[in-house]
Amino acid sequence: VGYVGPSVDGKALDVVMEGLARLEYRGYDSAGVALVTQDGVVSEKRAGKLANLRGALEEEHLPPATTGIGHTRWATHGGPTDANAHPHRGGADDRLALIHNGIIENFHSLKKELVEQGVQFRSETDTEVVAHLVAAAYGESGDLTEAMRTVVNRLEGAFTLLAVHEDAPGVVVGARRNSPLVVGLGEGENFLGSDVAAFIGHTRNALELGQDQIVTITPEGATVINFDGSPAEGKHYEVTWDAAAAEKGGYATFMEKEINEQPHAVGDTLLGRTDDEGRLVLDQTELSEDDLRSIDKIVIIACGTAAYAGMVAKYAIEHWTRIPVEVELAHEFRYRDPVIDEQTLVVSISQSGETMDTLMAVRHARELGARTLSICNTHGSTIPRESDAVLYTHAGPEIAVASTKAFLAQITASYVLGLYLAQLRGGTYADEAQSVMKELQGMPAKIEELLGRMGRVKEIARFMADTRSVLFLGRHVGYPVAMEGALKLKELAYIHAEGFAAGELKHGPIALIDAGQPVFIVVPSPDTAHGLHGKVVSNIQEIRARGARTIVIAEDGDEEVVPFADEVIRIPQSSPLLAPLLSVVPLQVFALHLSTAKGLDVDQPRNLAKSVTVE
Ligand code: G6P
Repeated sequence: VGYVGPSVDGKALDVVMEGLARLEYRGYDSAGVALVTQDGVVSEKRAGKLANLRGALEEEHLPPATTGIGHTRWATHGGPTDANAHPHRGGADDRLALIHNGIIENFHSLKKELVEQGVQFRSETDTEVVAHLVAAAYGESGDLTEAMRTVVNRLEGAFTLLAVHEDAPGVVVGARRNSPLVVGLGEGENFLGSDVAAFIGHTRNALELGQDQIVTITPEGATVINFDGSPAEGKHYEVTWDAAAAEKGGYATFMEKEINEQPHAVGDTLLGRTDDEGRLVLDQTELSEDDLRSIDKIVIIACGTAAYAGMVAKYAIEHWTRIPVEVELAHEFRYRDPVIDEQTLVVSISQSGETMDTLMAVRHARELGARTLSICNTHGSTIPRESDAVLYTHAGPEIAVASTKAFLAQITASYVLGLYLAQLRGGTYADEAQSVMKELQGMPAKIEELLGRMGRVKEIARFMADTRSVLFLGRHVGYPVAMEGALKLKELAYIHAEGFAAGELKHGPIALIDAGQPVFIVVPSPDTAHGLHGKVVSNIQEIRARGARTIVIAEDGDEEVVPFADEVIRIPQSSPLLAPLLSVVPLQVFALHLSTAKGLDVDQPRNLAKSVTVE
C-alpha cells in the first residue's frame, strides 16, 4: 500500500494500516509501515500477523504523516523475521524506505557488488538490495522517480516496488514488472495498492498500469512513465466491486482466484532457480553435493493433494535421475518400519509446512538416519525448519481449503528437484535438464491459455449438479491427476468420486459402469512412449460400450479420442511428463463449478481444515 494526502490531517498511517488489513490475505507472515514525517522517515515492522505490527505501533506513537507505505509479507527469500519484514531502509541515515512483492532473480550478483562497496546488510532478503541501490541512485540524481528507473532496469525477475525518501515528502514512487500494482485516484490524495482492495474504502477511481511502468504519486496526481523513461498513460477504470469482492480480485471465491493464479504460481516457482553458471540451486541446504550424489533412493511423503503431486513427481524424477522413488502417505510411512538409511533422501511435500502427519513422518525419517528435503509453500514453517534442505514453492498464500495453485507449484518444484539431481549426478538426462527447464518456463503461458477455454467445463458442471457419483481414469502421470480430480470433487461438491489407474479398470472397477455413469478420462499425449495413448483410447471404448458418459481430456489435435467421447475437453500440447500442469486444471474448474451449482461453500467445505495439525 502507498498513500499521499493533504498536509493538514496527516492520516497516512491510518490509511496504510486499513489498506494492509484488506490485503492481509495476500501475505501474513510479517508486516511493516514507513512514514515520511517532519522528523524524517520512520518505520516499524514485525514478524507475524498484522496484529503484531498494530501492537507495536500502539506503543510507539509515530508522528503524524501525509505520506506512507505499508506491506504484508509472504516470505520468498529469508524467513519471516522482524529483520526480513519490509520496509527495508537504504542510504545515508536510512533516508529511504522501500517495499517489494515478487522475486529479484539476480539479487545474488547485485548483493555481491554492494557488499564489495562496503554496504552492510541487515536482512537476508532480495528486497534490501533494491533499497540500497535506489538510495544510491537517488544520491546521484536527487530524483526518486529517476532513481527508481535507473535501478529497475538492472533488475531481473518479477517485482512491484514502492519507495519513499526523506528528501521527497509528499511523493511515493512505484514500479511494476510481472507483478500487480494499481493506482487509486482521490481528491487531493492518491493511493497505490497490489490490488484495489487496498483503497476501496476511499476511492473507486482507479488507474491500471502496464508492464514495466513506473508511477509517481503526489497529493495532486499520478504520473506514469515506462522503464525506458518515455511518458506513458495508465488505463482509467471504475471499481464496481464491493470490499469483499475486491479482496478476491473480483472472483466469487478465493478458490476461483487461486485457480486463475496458477500461471503465476508455476512461473514464480521457477524464478531464481539457476546460479550465474546456469546450474540449478536449492533455497536452503545443509546437504553437500556429495551427499546428494550418494543418494540411492528417494521416498516422497505427503498428505492429500500434496501426495498426488508426489505421485506425479515419481514418474519424472525416476525418468530423469534413474534413482528409485517411492511415494507414501505420511501417516502410513510414520507407523511402519521403512527401509531407509543415510543414502535415502526423504522428500516431504506440504503447502502449509505444518501438517502434523507429514511432520511426524519427517521426524521419523530423520531418526532413521535419512536426509530430508522439504518442498513447502510457507517460509519458516515447521517442516522446512526441521529438514536438511528446502525448495520453496512460490504459489503465494493459498486461502481456499482445497488446494489448487499449491499443487501446480509442488509439481513444478519437484521437477526442479529432479532436474537438479539429474544435472548433479550426470548421466543420460543431465543434458536434457536445460531443455526441460525451458519447456517448464513456457508452461505458465499454456496454463493461461487453457484457463481461457473453460466455458464448456463450467457448463458441464452445471448440468451435473444432481450427479451422485463420478469416476476419473488416467494412466502414467494422468493417474495421479485422476486421483486429484476425484479428491477435488469429494472435497468441494461432496459427491462420491474415485480415481483409478485406467489399466486397473478391467480388474474390478469396470463393474461400477452402467448406463449414464459419468467418467472423466485423462488421455496422455499421442507422443507418449510404448503405445500408451492407444491403450487409454481402448479403455475409453470399453467403458463407452457399457453405457458410460465419457468426458475426455485430450491434447489439441488428438483426433483418435473423438469417436468415443461424449465430451472432449482440449488442453494445449506439452511433453508427456509436463502434461499434469495442464490436465488437472479442467478438473479443478469442474469441481469448483459443480460445488457452486450445488450452492456449497467453496472456500471452506464442511469437515475440512486448511492445515491439519493433529495426527
Ligand atoms: C489438508 C487440506 C488439503 C491438503 C492437505 C495437505 O487435508 O485440506 O487440501 O492437501 O491437508 O496439506 P499440506 O499443507 O501439508 O500441503
